[in-house]
Amino acid sequence: MITPALNPLVLSLKESATLAINLKALRLRKKGKKVYHFGFGQSPFPVPDNIQDALRKNADKKDYLPTQGLPELCEAVSVFYRDEFCYNFSSDNVCVGPGSKELIFQLIYLMEGPLLVPAPSWVSYGPQAALRGKEIVPIMTKRENGYRLQIDELDRVAHKLGQKQKLLIINNPNNPTGCLYTKDELEELAKLCRAYQIIVISDEIYAMIEFTNKPHSSLAHYYPEGTIVTGGLSKSFAAGGYRLGVMLLPRELKIILNALKSVISETFSSVSAPIQYAALEAYGNFELVRPFIEKTCEIYQFTSEYMHDRFIKAGLNCPKADGSFYLFPDFENYRENIRKKGILTGINICNYLLEHFNIAALPGSDFYMPATNLGARFASVDFDGQKVLNSWTNRKDMDEEKTKSLFPYLVEGCDSLEHFTKTLCV
Ligand SMILES: Cc1ncc(COP(=O)(O)O)c(C=O)c1O
Repeated sequence: MITPALNPLVLSLKESATLAINLKALRLRKKGKKVYHFGFGQSPFPVPDNIQDALRKNADKKDYLPTQGLPELCEAVSVFYRDEFCYNFSSDNVCVGPGSKELIFQLIYLMEGPLLVPAPSWVSYGPQAALRGKEIVPIMTKRENGYRLQIDELDRVAHKLGQKQKLLIINNPNNPTGCLYTKDELEELAKLCRAYQIIVISDEIYAMIEFTNKPHSSLAHYYPEGTIVTGGLSKSFAAGGYRLGVMLLPRELKIILNALKSVISETFSSVSAPIQYAALEAYGNFELVRPFIEKTCEIYQFTSEYMHDRFIKAGLNCPKADGSFYLFPDFENYRENIRKKGILTGINICNYLLEHFNIAALPGSDFYMPATNLGARFASVDFDGQKVLNSWTNRKDMDEEKTKSLFPYLVEGCDSLEHFTKTLCV
């Protein structure tokens, strides 16, 4: 019998509770059990027609494309980010990859120094750093600050780490909290990052799902020389399965871009050609996509606010989300009564919710919070996107009946959650 010896860095990865709960929820659904799937974070909407058409029309594109990406696409991405977000990245400093996740991984792989991650933050940064044997430094944020990283929190950690190079990843808007940094916070963080020469990865995959009516703000505006921006087709363009992400690097970090091109050339080579042509339509013909983005954003805002209201009514703490399609409520107000049921950790609570109340959510510990943190991530996208798009008129037209008819799982899931919290009050 062969006993394969594996890379110890891979062995150190545990199966994530995210996957476990996701799989469990899907298995239960398959068996016919009702599950309110708040654990799942992908766009429920169809890919806009013009992007699908572009993909069909370019099915004959079969040649390998340049490592960095189709030049016309890099140009379109550079112009899109200039026009929509006022960034100043030239097309030579744009890289295209099979999802921003892969590009972030390659960046983490080729950089020295620890990775600083505000907690809570997206699940995958930590395991990606662990795969490279890189030190991960979670920085606890506070609920009262909307879980946004504050300069004193970053200063303390950066000071302690001393001279070595540091990477910081800021996800704005944030998964799992929906938080969005204010302009003032970004300006302050930028000063500190400049002082410590921190290299920032600004993960902006949710950048067009924002609910504030203010222009998108980013560290790339205030610390352009040290901020690398990532985005892609997965969220606002509703095309996660197309697997196309982009990375924009400042010209001051050309050395990183050159290394990235080498790593890409020795790994995935280039992204599938037809998908790059579809992305060219998305970025290059954005005016055709804009109405879809605006309409879906309004729907995301409605579901986010609906769920937030229900969480507050159920006695949970939960900062309001200003973007993305997630909320991060916590059950701290019920800690004592929950403990009487033998629930001590975030994982305990998520398992309990799934088993007894058909609710799938992900524990805070998956997002770098301590095991005993009673926060959980709820996604607000468990609905039939096509059906909602067909009947949607305006947020103001929504009443209880329409909400129930268009978002039955969200309504019933929140009813079930309220039922759970009522059992804690007796
Ligand atoms: C915060 C965050 N960053 C990056 C990604 C990865 O996106 P992509 O599909 O571009 O790899 C996700 C996907 O869930 C995400 O939530």
